[in-house]
Amino acid sequence: MDQKQYNRQLFEFLSASPTPFHAVSFMADKLRQNGFVELSEKEPWNVQDLESAFIIRDDGSLIAFTLGGEEKRREGFRMLGAHTDSPCLQVKPLAADPKHSIHQLPVEIYGGPLLATWFDRDLSLAGRVVCRLKNQSLTTLLVDFQRPMLTIPSLAIHLDREANVKRTIDKQTDIIPLFGQQQDDNPLALSEVLIKKLEELHPGREIESILGADLFCYDCQPPSYNGNNREFICAGKLDNLLSCHAALSGMLNRDGEINRLMICSNHEEVGSTTAAGAGGSFLKTILKRLYPDPQERHCVLARSLLVSMDNAHAVHPNFAAKSDPAHLPLMNHGPVIKSNANHRYATTAASKAIFRAVAEEVEVPLQDFVMRNDLLCGSTIGPMTAAELGVNTIDIGAPTLGMHSIREMTGSRDPLMLYSAILHFLNRPLLPEIIC
Ligand code: CO
Repeated sequence: MDQKQYNRQLFEFLSASPTPFHAVSFMADKLRQNGFVELSEKEPWNVQDLESAFIIRDDGSLIAFTLGGEEKRREGFRMLGAHTDSPCLQVKPLAADPKHSIHQLPVEIYGGPLLATWFDRDLSLAGRVVCRLKNQSLTTLLVDFQRPMLTIPSLAIHLDREANVKRTIDKQTDIIPLFGQQQDDNPLALSEVLIKKLEELHPGREIESILGADLFCYDCQPPSYNGNNREFICAGKLDNLLSCHAALSGMLNRDGEINRLMICSNHEEVGSTTAAGAGGSFLKTILKRLYPDPQERHCVLARSLLVSMDNAHAVHPNFAAKSDPAHLPLMNHGPVIKSNANHRYATTAASKAIFRAVAEEVEVPLQDFVMRNDLLCGSTIGPMTAAELGVNTIDIGAPTLGMHSIREMTGSRDPLMLYSAILHFLNRPLLPEIIC
């Protein structure tokens, strides 16, 4: 696959995925089209007959796997991990009365967004809504307005002359998006706007009322190339949909009978300790169902390798002093291996060696990242999955600037390089073995 084609598919995925629910729905469609069967956690499974299947938990997390034949099933898994969520603003259940003729949509802060980047953007609204239909059944429907309908205007510099020196953001009062202007005496009710849009998006569903919703604001601006030679990509949610897309693309390009598994989980940006998060029971439960015999399961896990993917910090030319001077990952120079002495990343010498050997064979260069000693190191799903399962793990990611901004940046070559390395990891007949 060439770079243009790969990036076009990535852009399509990004545009279709304003929320984790949409990302999972997109991935599920692609998996179905490629012969993967959807399994329900509520039903028993006939494991002997399973080959390629996927499971969704809580609409925002997905595990897909392909099992080899009877003998091959005892071999280890090539596992990929990524997260479906991104820091953003989530709509609160109730809105206050309009002020100065303006209706606003109160929001909570989901994860750790760079709030300053949310001002003056064309924001839209998307999420999942649980409705009561007119036939009295309950159903979950996805909604995405796909048009600018919210904005958070900055305070003019004339009213805050210190704005460029010391503007701070009050999280309760300063970031409430404007949703519309009072037209007449009728209040602007979000539920009515939602029902109208849901009936338009899901024809044939007659909605009586809305019983629950998880709605998020997102930036409408589509992904784009940037730079003199289009050598950069700018888009929202590159952290971590870029990795979800690489994992999905790898799973869809199967070559040979190998145990392969991907987990794309929700709630990483809020710590992962939820039913659907990487710190929850999802992956462990699925592996127990696939390998009910503990001896066999433990052997398979001990033979497995997990490549945990989450974007990495490239060196920023304006803020190079924030990077360790000897570890300066560059955009367009290959996926970044993340290591940390305190195991905020799960990379070990062994996992690094195996992945390096694999990437070398397809001529994908790798870069090394460590955090400066005087800055706190972030973390990702790698360490908790490694701890929970006891599986050898490496943390890697595409070099990124502006992480957690509403619009992030990576190199145009980076998505395909990441994909090429993990595709070879998935399809190499055997992984390099470390002989003691
Ligand atoms: Co991330």
